[in-house]
Amino acid sequence: AIRTAHTVATLRAQIQQWRAAGEKIALVPTMGALHAGHVALMTAARERAERVIVTIFVNPTQFAPTEDLSRYPRTLEADLVKAEAAGVDMAFVPDVAEMYPDGFCTTITLTGPALELETAFRPTHFTGVATVVAKLLIQALPDVALFGEKDYQQLQVVKRLARDLDLPVQIVGVPTVREPDGLALSSRNVYLSPAERATATSLHRALNAAAERIARGGQVETAVEEARAAVCAAGFQLDYLEARHAETLAPVDGPDDGPIRLLVAARIGATRLIDNVSVPTL
Ligand code: PAJ
Repeated sequence: AIRTAHTVATLRAQIQQWRAAGEKIALVPTMGALHAGHVALMTAARERAERVIVTIFVNPTQFAPTEDLSRYPRTLEADLVKAEAAGVDMAFVPDVAEMYPDGFCTTITLTGPALELETAFRPTHFTGVATVVAKLLIQALPDVALFGEKDYQQLQVVKRLARDLDLPVQIVGVPTVREPDGLALSSRNVYLSPAERATATSLHRALNAAAERIARGGQVETAVEEARAAVCAAGFQLDYLEARHAETLAPVDGPDDGPIRLLVAARIGATRLIDNVSVPTL
């Protein structure tokens, strides 16, 4: 059965036993409200390690005061059932005071892949993400930690973080799990009305069309402009839709600048969705 740890001390005591037995450990950080996208991370984790730990913590520091922290879905009992079914050995479920003790005043400052894109619209978001992810990685010291490509900028920020701070952890990205119509699974999809849900598929369609056009030799800027127009015509308010270098997330003019990733964030009603695709090299 799945074990649950609420404190760093309990987490570390368990990990120490597994380490003593020579077992490899994988960490899957989440904010709960688990869906098939999270389960894909757990399955990939199982393939890489004898022991899998999922962390479930709705991290307040990555939400702006205007965002959905208080209404973020919390489904711990169902989450534990899903994690157990996915072969997870332990869930780490700290409370806010365990993660942010009184007087907490240390954060991580980022540049590089954290610049622009999400940061232009959520200026404090990645500081909160990087700080909590650094804490989780130091608390557990896993061999490998898995993150979804769904949050592509986050994945690149975390890769850079682990490298820059010499965290002895391999960061692995897992492809985005999608609904049959292409919508990326997200805990926030539950906010969508049926009409919004129907519109939402246009995000992925627009990205795919642009990626295909660029792969076939089309101008990056033209393809991106058409995708922006398609997303707006579908009824979204666009935050950004950009072509960026797939690792550094620096702006790119064309395929000569390196592998390209297309990234989008757009709002429909009260819900903000993000997605991204790679531009295949034909
Ligand atoms: P959360 O949104 O719960 O996502 C947890 C992990 O699941 C992230 O690595 C995310 O990229 C991945 N994920 C979400 N939807 C996915 C999908 N459709 N396909 C594949 N992977 C998907 O991201 C966070 O939590 C937080 O920022 C966190 C890293 C836990 C720090 O608080």
